[in-house]
Amino acid sequence: SPIPVIAIDGPSGAGKGTLSRLVANRLGYHLLDSGALYRLTALAAMNAGVDLDNPDAVAAVARHLAVRFDAAGEDTRILLHEQDVSREIRTEAVSMNASRVAAYPPVREALLQRQRDFRQAPGLVADGRDMGTTVFPDAGVKIFLTASPEARAERRYLQLLEKGEKVDMDALVADIRERDKRDSERAVSPLKPADDAHLVDSTELTIEQVLERILSYTR
Ligand code: C5P
Repeated sequence: SPIPVIAIDGPSGAGKGTLSRLVANRLGYHLLDSGALYRLTALAAMNAGVDLDNPDAVAAVARHLAVRFDAAGEDTRILLHEQDVSREIRTEAVSMNASRVAAYPPVREALLQRQRDFRQAPGLVADGRDMGTTVFPDAGVKIFLTASPEARAERRYLQLLEKGEKVDMDALVADIRERDKRDSERAVSPLKPADDAHLVDSTELTIEQVLERILSYTR
């Protein structure tokens, strides 16, 4: 039988990253942070001075990304050309450009096989927007994790504060809405639940409660 995949999709800030890591740890599965690949593509293109309005030029960057996910205890260090860019790929500028280049079909195509290569025994937790719909349509468990835009902005706010970054709450909510709109309305792989996905709204739930719910679907 094929190697099991748990697909966890949804908008940013719904808690996918945290939950995916917890589920992967609990089950001893590998983890794919597909958003990081789009972020790395955006950052590499920015660093190389590539025109971000040119889908084919950005796709060439995506095809040749020299990335390494280096498991370092709790966290995973993300290396681009052997440089640690774990923090840099989370800045607002890179977030915006990641969602911009993620709308380009040739960029998505360039990253498709790279994502599928993460499917290794004993199993994979895949975190993204189109894990259950496009990348792993045969995933045994599909979760669509959401939360209200306000709850997501607040979590992001706390994350940024923790990192010592100054943030404007109104700007954050506006950014989240803009990214959601672009992710949901794009022609290729828009952000939407797979027909066979379990919908989980984390707005009123603790991380533990969401974790238990997701694990219950895997049993
Ligand atoms: O999940 P994360 O916020 O890191 O993703 C960054 C951006 O990459 C998203 O805003 C989205 O536009 C894009 N993305 C995507 N498909 C995925 C994962 C991320 O289009 N599977």
